[in-house]
Amino acid sequence: MLLHVPSVLTPDDLRRASEILRTAQWSDGRRTSGEQAAQAKHNQQLREDSPECRALQQIVLAGIERHPILISATLAKHISPPLFNRYAGEQNYFGDHVDSAIRHVNSSGARVRTDISCTVFLCEPDSYEGGELVITDTFGQQRVKLPAGDVVLYPGSTVHRVEPVTSGERLASFFWVQSMIRSDQQRRILFDMDNHLRELRGSFGESNAAVIGLTGTYHNLLRMWMEL
Ligand code: NI
Repeated sequence: MLLHVPSVLTPDDLRRASEILRTAQWSDGRRTSGEQAAQAKHNQQLREDSPECRALQQIVLAGIERHPILISATLAKHISPPLFNRYAGEQNYFGDHVDSAIRHVNSSGARVRTDISCTVFLCEPDSYEGGELVITDTFGQQRVKLPAGDVVLYPGSTVHRVEPVTSGERLASFFWVQSMIRSDQQRRILFDMDNHLRELRGSFGESNAAVIGLTGTYHNLLRMWMEL
């Protein structure tokens, strides 16, 4: 499932983030990638252990954790600490690559299975040229370039790239989610069902017998499929 989730970060979050990003020290993005991805990668990143990265992580994680659509779509078990990248100047693209199946979290030694890849756009799309995230999957090729504060989720299994940024700079945050529901297909069914249930609750109320029954079916599927 490829999903665009608008306004995960508020204008205030974005203002605070851009203030921190203005003075941030960028380093070569290749240090955090697997071998195949590193060869394709030409961007910059914030060091995970820098105070700027820590402060930005708090802003992004708070946005993710309060957003009902993200909660329902990911059913997260673990979230890797968000990282931050910059595409500009000479280091302006990331060629076709796959994300490693396991993300090692340096600070805690934890491991996150990369079921879902997530990008949070931090710059307005008209402030830079190029920089589309191109995702190839069984549904074909999708080109994604979103407003600041919006998030795209896509399966960790896809081949993807970031097109060259030919003017301006593209700043983004990225992270991975290990879901309680490993299968993308099952997660999609649960997400659709949750959305339809929300509509039904709005029309018929919480105490409607069919709404109660279907809510039970949602939780029974969750119980059958989830790993804790
Ligand atoms: Ni990637």
